Amino acid sequence: MNAHVKEETIWIDVGAVTDVPLRGARRVPTPRGAVAVFRTGDGRVFALKDACPHKGGPLSQGIVHGHAVACPLHNWSIDLATGEPLGADRGKGCSPTVPLRIEDGRILLGQV
Ligand code: FES
Repeated sequence: MNAHVKEETIWIDVGAVTDVPLRGARRVPTPRGAVAVFRTGDGRVFALKDACPHKGGPLSQGIVHGHAVACPLHNWSIDLATGEPLGADRGKGCSPTVPLRIEDGRILLGQV
């Protein structure tokens, strides 16, 4: 009997790229917790668990600057590509990234 089970990613359409404001974010509730989807000034899209690595602040309500977001609670700056704090708070935890792809202008979040 073959015990090898291939895990496949399930992609869920959560809306159009243009639904997320430039230099802004949208909060997407999922069965595994809320996800923050960000769109930067240069049009790139990122997804992180919507919880700051410091004390769980809602990153989707933060200010997007460059490819980072400033947490609304205590102003830690979180790298959108890695979920890790920048600057003096580097190395103090991480907000997990969420698999994301764009297809025909739609945002798909991955769930493994
Ligand atoms: S909870 Fe985000 S900086 Fe404190």
